[in-house]
Amino acid sequence: MSGSRHFTQLRDLGVAGLEEVIGKASAWKKSAPQGKLAGRILGMVFFNPSLRTRASFEAAMLRSGGHAIVLEVGSGVWTLEHRDGVVMDQNRTEHIREAVPVLSRYVDALAIRTFSDGSGDQADEADVVLNGFRRYSEKPVISMESAREHPCQGLADVLTMRERFGQTKGLDVTLTWAPHVKPLPKAVPNSFLLSAAAAGCKVRVAHPKGFELTTSVLDEARAFAKQAGGTVEVTNDQSAALEGSHVIYAKAWGPSSASPDAAVRQDAWMPTKKHLGLLEDDGIFMHCLPTRRGLEVADEVLDDPRSRVVDEAENRFHVQRVILHDLLS
Ligand code: CP
Repeated sequence: MSGSRHFTQLRDLGVAGLEEVIGKASAWKKSAPQGKLAGRILGMVFFNPSLRTRASFEAAMLRSGGHAIVLEVGSGVWTLEHRDGVVMDQNRTEHIREAVPVLSRYVDALAIRTFSDGSGDQADEADVVLNGFRRYSEKPVISMESAREHPCQGLADVLTMRERFGQTKGLDVTLTWAPHVKPLPKAVPNSFLLSAAAAGCKVRVAHPKGFELTTSVLDEARAFAKQAGGTVEVTNDQSAALEGSHVIYAKAWGPSSASPDAAVRQDAWMPTKKHLGLLEDDGIFMHCLPTRRGLEVADEVLDDPRSRVVDEAENRFHVQRVILHDLLS
């Protein structure tokens, strides 16, 4: 890994670091070092729910001989305040200024899940809860998804594409917005974009008007792409983006403005077999999961042999095992 002692954003790894993790994860799928994390403890702090992230991090620790402690904030664990200078007279019991250094003295690394509060791109960019953990922890901090990024998901996505296509440099991939009943966070699309760009893909981002990704994330992705030999393009034409792509990566995310294009038929953006038909013959479907069938993605896509969603979820374990070994051993 690069010089950072934390892994909470792709830039902690950079292009070379991403290649190192993907290479190791790929090799360790065939033969992994045994017992390297014996006696090591990962503290996992959840502000939000999870299935894959929790299970894959715990499994990675256990299978490497280590142990994980899971803390669900507000559920058997004190509620935590992160804002500075507030009078704590409401329902939050403890400040992260004390809680984080305390926790970090019990464990060898802290992993955090904290979602966007939905108040906008500026708040996502500041990522105050995650960065509070970075600031106050005496041990390495790993993101299990925060307001801006879900970097372990992005690495698992690259590993999944590498396994399918052998290489990702110059690979045409489309990240497409998909409909949902809730305005979901942008951490996953941000991380797919950043990671695919850093892996040298030619990334097309397709979304209706009013669902733009954050400029700073697009700029960062373009800088990674320049370094890795890829490109990043943005369009409001989903079909044009998918035509000739090898990958359709679907994800719902919330609007960037209070009044997204009302004329757009959002349900028409849900991936169906028709969308798969626009891909190259070797094309695959990807989604980070969880997804709502029939709303965000059609059943026929998730049940199609071209869907790689389960492999993608499995790869969370493999990339995280490498991250944990690099930061803990
Ligand atoms: N993809 C992902 O992070 O899944 P969970 O929310 O279930 O952890």
